[in-house]
Amino acid sequence: MAIKEVVKAPATVLSTKTKEVDVIDESIIALLDDLYDTMVEHDGVGIAAPQINVGLRVAIVELGEDILEMINPIVIETKGDIVEDIEGCLSFPDVFGLVKRPTYVKIEAADREGRIYELEAEDFEARAIMHEIDHLDGVLFDSKMTRRLTEEELEQLYAEEE
Ligand code: CO
Repeated sequence: MAIKEVVKAPATVLSTKTKEVDVIDESIIALLDDLYDTMVEHDGVGIAAPQINVGLRVAIVELGEDILEMINPIVIETKGDIVEDIEGCLSFPDVFGLVKRPTYVKIEAADREGRIYELEAEDFEARAIMHEIDHLDGVLFDSKMTRRLTEEELEQLYAEEE
């Protein structure tokens, strides 16, 4: 386990579609643990393998107390209203913007034991999952941003968090 350096945009590894994981071996377990350590170090709520310079289809998202580990995740279904809300990304320090996404997502992925699971999520959690799966397809949130928050709005956002 180790804290890795977060790759900042623009970078080829961030804009390249990742490769599927063939075998969940010790290197994949180590990758999941590195993602976790790096996310916690940088106060993120999710992180994808390309963000630590690994071009594999692996990402994690914080869901309340739990950490959702996604190996080879696919989106099975999205539905609900398309809602615009604020997103940020560890690869874009100090950039926050509005992104439109559906309020519901259903995914399929494997966990570290290799078990295939399905998961439904809504609202903030759905948004976080879709943001991370986008990373695995080489899609960055700035390409979906309808508007970047201004300095004033950012200051207000940080003030609310404190
Ligand atoms: Co991101």
